[in-house]
Amino acid sequence: MADELVAWSDDFLVGNSVIDRQHKELVRLTNEFWAGCQMGGVMAKVYFLQTIQGTVLYVKTHFSTEEELMRKANYPDFDAHKKQHEDFVAEVTRQIQFFEKEDNPNPSKFVEYLMNWILKHVADSDKKYMPYIAKLEQ
Ligand SMILES: [Fe+2]
Repeated sequence: MADELVAWSDDFLVGNSVIDRQHKELVRLTNEFWAGCQMGGVMAKVYFLQTIQGTVLYVKTHFSTEEELMRKANYPDFDAHKKQHEDFVAEVTRQIQFFEKEDNPNPSKFVEYLMNWILKHVADSDKKYMPYIAKLEQ
């Protein structure tokens, strides 16, 4: 398999098995996506547009899972966290529309943006809800 953009690290674990499994899958999907975009040219565009929809769907499902848990846990920063999710989905949607119009797009930067956002969000924002979510399992 081609290059990985980022290898999964257990530093990203938030301690909830469902969320951790989804985060791992997000990193795997983004790496796979990254490898596909290295083809370049028209193939990369076709690949990109076919694959991004599935990735976005997975991201949205994951955000719903997190939001459900945060709501159950009465997480005090729920609104701000949900807003981060919504802003991210809006930005990704905007980028997809941009790539649909481009003849010869180079999505590599965009995939880097996706990965960086996901990892930063997991490491910063998701870690903050960790102690609240942990209480649900007791
Ligand atoms: Fe989140």
